[in-house]
Amino acid sequence: MANEIKNQLLLLQEKAEKELQELEDIDLLEELHRQILGKKGKLTLFLKQIPQLPPDERVETGRLANKTKKNLESIFKEKTQSLRLSASQALSLQEQIDITVPGVQTPIGHLHPVSLAIFEIEDIFSRLGFVRRRYPEVEHEYYTFEALNMPAHHPARDDFETFYITDEIILTPHTSSGQVREMEKGSSAESAERLPIRMLNIAKCYRPQIDASHTPMFFQFEGLFLDKNVSIAELKGTLDFFAKNYFGKGSKTRLRPHHFQFTEPSFETDVTCTNCSGRGCKFCKQGWLELGGAGMVHPKVIENGGLHPKEVNGFAFGWGVERVAAIRYRIPDIRLLYQNDLRFLEQF
Ligand code: FA5
Repeated sequence: MANEIKNQLLLLQEKAEKELQELEDIDLLEELHRQILGKKGKLTLFLKQIPQLPPDERVETGRLANKTKKNLESIFKEKTQSLRLSASQALSLQEQIDITVPGVQTPIGHLHPVSLAIFEIEDIFSRLGFVRRRYPEVEHEYYTFEALNMPAHHPARDDFETFYITDEIILTPHTSSGQVREMEKGSSAESAERLPIRMLNIAKCYRPQIDASHTPMFFQFEGLFLDKNVSIAELKGTLDFFAKNYFGKGSKTRLRPHHFQFTEPSFETDVTCTNCSGRGCKFCKQGWLELGGAGMVHPKVIENGGLHPKEVNGFAFGWGVERVAAIRYRIPDIRLLYQNDLRFLEQF
């Protein structure tokens, strides 16, 4: 009988210790205390049985039962204290954080003005059927110069001051390097079958220049339209369409004679000033602002693209993205676009 009680006491203590370890709730802790040490608790019942034991077993069993009771009481006390402490810590943390205060809003960014301009340009030309293309920024000299009718040592190359990587590999100084690459696509097909070509090549270009209207890295967008019997009127119509959609309905363009080795005839394109609508102000030259180059694609370039210049003709133009954005938003110095000054960028 005594041994049986001893074993049960040991088991009771072990079980209680295990349950206490896992307990995290003060109410459940009190309930467990009641079940073991309460008036009708398991341990209390054991203690009540002790007087019925034979006298020689009574003393030792009584001592063990009291020891178990003491142990359990001290474990319960410790656990109660630790649960109360963590509850009060949680409460004081809650008091420190005023959950009624409105949250701090995370600033939301937006696209860079140059990216905005690129997407808008792409959208405007897509309405005329021009498809966006991307050609290498690190380019072979051939596509940048030779293919565009500027053989080695030709002085026209100086117009596009160039960063050289090796003797033949360069950072492309203009998007015109995509023209012959575009013509070469599908070159196994007959010349006429490859028409019409309506390319819009927007890419980074590089030139060692820096001032209010030049940066060493800048974007150009290059249009190339090749078909049969294309006229200068179509070039003019395309430029007008862009100007009206990008700068505003009242905008007009004009073509001035110019020279490019890869177009004949060649033009410099102007748009009416967005500040004075063509009347003349300190921002423009007598009402006009220069946009960029354009012209009818030179027969030699068409030939270099593997097409027949007698069957195929068309126009090309290449303008600066920063330049058109500067005209539209009247940015006095395009270097502002690349200084990452939020006071400037947040205005777009
Ligand atoms: C060209 O680059 C010719 N490839 C354009 C062309 C294409 C003519 C197709 C005919 C047919 P130009 O060097 O003028 O042309 O440059 C065109 C435009 O690019 C300039 O008007 C200017 O807006 C922009 N640009 C040129 N260099 C820079 C630079 N360093 N920083 C910012 N924009 C530039």
